[in-house]
Amino acid sequence: MVCIQSVRHRQAFLCSIACLLGVVAGHSNDALVIIPLDKQYVPIHRNEQVVAYKTAYFGQVFVGFPQPQAFSVVFDTGSGHFFLPSSMCQSEACQVHRKYNESVSKSAKLIDHTGQEVGPDTERDEVSVSFGTGEILGSFVEEVICFRESQGEKAPGCATARLVTAHQMTEEPFKNFGFDGVMGLGLASLAVDPRFSVFEQMARMNGPRFTPQFGYFISEDDAVPSEICFGGHDVRHMNSALQWAPVHDPHKGFWQVKIIRVSVDGVELPHCSDGSCVAIADTGTSLLGAPRQIAQQLHRLLARKVPETKEANLNCQDVTGPELAFELEGGVRISLGGREYSRAAPMKIVTKQKEEHTVCRASLLPVDPTPALGSSAFILGEPMLRKYYSVYDWEKQRVGFALAKPGVPTGPPVHTVYGMPDAVASSTVHV
Ligand SMILES: *[C@@H]1O[C@H](CO)[C@@H](O)[C@H](O)[C@H]1NC(C)=O
Repeated sequence: MVCIQSVRHRQAFLCSIACLLGVVAGHSNDALVIIPLDKQYVPIHRNEQVVAYKTAYFGQVFVGFPQPQAFSVVFDTGSGHFFLPSSMCQSEACQVHRKYNESVSKSAKLIDHTGQEVGPDTERDEVSVSFGTGEILGSFVEEVICFRESQGEKAPGCATARLVTAHQMTEEPFKNFGFDGVMGLGLASLAVDPRFSVFEQMARMNGPRFTPQFGYFISEDDAVPSEICFGGHDVRHMNSALQWAPVHDPHKGFWQVKIIRVSVDGVELPHCSDGSCVAIADTGTSLLGAPRQIAQQLHRLLARKVPETKEANLNCQDVTGPELAFELEGGVRISLGGREYSRAAPMKIVTKQKEEHTVCRASLLPVDPTPALGSSAFILGEPMLRKYYSVYDWEKQRVGFALAKPGVPTGPPVHTVYGMPDAVASSTVHV
């Protein structure tokens, strides 16, 4: 799955052109590990009907030594821990996934919550982790974790870190997922202890040739794999120079940047003018999240009535909409157009006077204020991270954005797309 050799060549070639254009930061990328990502469309049901799809992206990592066990995981910048189903797990959600078996690994160290090694017959500490609608129960293991099929903890792209092995997982939502586990890539402070942060350990153990960065590419075209790369960023996916925004409040652990200004077609939203708004880059969220207090207002500003003549098979992502722009600390400006923030299916609205309108709407996830997220958080999920290639710089604690370069299909696919939907029918709302 990891194509270091061929990439190294193309990398060098592209770099020489891109460097001439002034696009590349200039560090050597020969330690770059590239992991292609599978994609899954997960239907969202309402009243037993599919109303929309979430998407999940996941790629392979390897755990244990000397026989690495392969798992597919979501690389989630919005969480801080790594969990996998354990071979002890009897839950249905575990039965349909690959399970980690510590007894086939010589590097496995069973530990309690303080990190003390415990014997196989000791009663283990149990930890519960909740994930939106679901929950897992598990215990702690220290293990060799590799981004490529490799030779132990000292090999490049490997590190020793702690993970949670689940011996119970709720059916919802895990059973229907195509991936086995989740690898949290939030900053180390999102983990209970930095030794649970896989990337922190990777950055510490891989020496100076490993640039402590990772880059995330979401492909527009399902025939082209999305990718995550570790050890730098991948200029093949960039159509512009990186703009860097410093992480705001790094102790919170999120890849969070401060918003200076939010505007719709150039008109500033007053809600963020007091400086309280932040934007969190989250590879684990499929929508654009907006603070609940202004979600309705944003919906109104971004909705477009569609002329009657254009209705047949209309895809709202083809209907021009106002520009939603974010100015971030560091002089970064990123924006979305109708193509990126729209729900594909138009919505029919029937008024009390029985008038029918067809409207194109944005797809927004309302974000409630919480102590962790603060009072006004936008979540830069898939729509933003597809338009912009994003880079997470662990050492300098900053997030980089460059316009993504859509890939072209080359050779046989290295990835799988699960559950690709037929067109989503339009929905009707009575107001
Ligand atoms: C784990 O692996 C060991 C050694 O191969 C095997 O005996 C055991 O049955 C496995 N455990 C489970 C629960 O699959």
